[in-house]
Amino acid sequence: MIPGMGAVATTLIAGVEAVRRGFAKPFGSMSQMGTIRLGKRTDDNTPLIKDWAPIAQLDDLVFTGWDIFGGNLYDAAKTAGVLDRDQIESMKDFLQGIEPMPAAFDQRWVKRLTPQHQKVGKNKCDLASQIRNDIAEFKTKTDRQVMIWCGSTEIYIQPSAVHQTLEAFEKGLVDDDPNISPSMLYAWAALKEGIPFANGAPNLTVDIPALQELSKKMNTPICGKDFKTGQTFIKTVLAPGFKARQLGVSGWFSTNILGNRDGEVLDDPDNFKTKEVSKLGVLEHIFQPDKNPDLYGDAFHKIRIEYYPPRGDNKEGWDNIDIFGWLGYPMQIKVDFLCRDSILAAPLALDLCLFMDLAARTPALRGLGIQEWLSFYFKDPDSAPGVYPEHDLFIQQMKLKNTLRHIMGEDLITHLGLEYYGE
Ligand SMILES: NC(=O)c1ccc[n+]([C@@H]2O[C@H](COP(=O)([O-])OP(=O)(O)OC[C@H]3O[C@@H](n4cnc5c(N)ncnc54)[C@H](O)[C@@H]3O)[C@@H](O)[C@H]2O)c1
Repeated sequence: MIPGMGAVATTLIAGVEAVRRGFAKPFGSMSQMGTIRLGKRTDDNTPLIKDWAPIAQLDDLVFTGWDIFGGNLYDAAKTAGVLDRDQIESMKDFLQGIEPMPAAFDQRWVKRLTPQHQKVGKNKCDLASQIRNDIAEFKTKTDRQVMIWCGSTEIYIQPSAVHQTLEAFEKGLVDDDPNISPSMLYAWAALKEGIPFANGAPNLTVDIPALQELSKKMNTPICGKDFKTGQTFIKTVLAPGFKARQLGVSGWFSTNILGNRDGEVLDDPDNFKTKEVSKLGVLEHIFQPDKNPDLYGDAFHKIRIEYYPPRGDNKEGWDNIDIFGWLGYPMQIKVDFLCRDSILAAPLALDLCLFMDLAARTPALRGLGIQEWLSFYFKDPDSAPGVYPEHDLFIQQMKLKNTLRHIMGEDLITHLGLEYYGE
């Protein structure tokens, strides 16, 4: 169930159908293409995750969602302009069969978009109840459900009183509290219905005590926010390398040009602020400047996103990295990533749906609420209160695979390796 059926959502849904029909392969998806080593290196036992872990099969997936634009997903996919026209045409019948439901929306949160297809309610509680009804209806047609927010980035807010407890939040729904955003209505409705909720955007959404409380109360998984796709993905690959070699960083300047609807929404300073905060935290947590002051204490980090329509969904991200080595001698690295935003995001959305569904069926995980093992997918991973989030992509990958081994009763892999050299 997807609030926000734009570029990422249509690329995900059309992509799953393309794979099902044998037109293409699910590159970029760990759940579909990834393998997992079990036992010792000498055991030579490395199955595909999809054949080994009890995750849902692509053939069993059914999609629905909400958007402020009506019409069907064939038209939405053409508007998004991510996939080739021929590829969209080849799945026209399937895509025409999915139409977003009217959205819970408020333009205060996404100023650049004007809704055409939205719910009307007497207050936020009424709107959230309408979403619950939509979910209840979908439950009659499907066995299990997951919700993943692929909607626009909402304006930046900090947690306030209404976000602190579930009681205050539910009162705020009735009182139409201005600090409750549309994405929070979907998240509340999902959790109330016992449905795991993942967030592809950097909005606060479930990252508040009230909804974390609800997640625990309902034994229903939540996880981090903001898909880690282009520039931040590369950043969390490079930064751990510099740190591993004790190379210092004096500055990291990142800029992007992006021309899709997401870029248009982020062109508003309040919406950009939400994204900026999400992107900025990454280096701070990897470099730990308080523990490595000589290497990273003065690192200057700046991020820009410029809306540039000619590029559409094909984002270009530049990084200039000023590093220094032995005796402080400076060096530079330049990265120019000509990426495709939704092509990178769709497989992450797929994996999150499958793994969140698995978490909901796994007693050892579902009671935790926050699924830290899925940090791998997020720019802004969530972790227990008082525990710093892990941003290093390679630690995140190990955490994810070890969690799968753990729930499947396999030995964890520590890479100690002494056993190969014993008597
Ligand atoms: N593509 C990436 O690489 C990437 C990476 C990280 C995060 N994201 C985030 O994922 C989200 C989706 O990206 P996209 O490129 O698909 O954007 P998009 O603009 O193509 O799609 C977002 C859709 O959400 C809809 N929407 C907005 N508010 C809504 C509401 N309250 N209810 C229902 N629908 C609503 C919009 O009408 C739009 O169709 C954005 O927030 C983006 O920042 C994308």
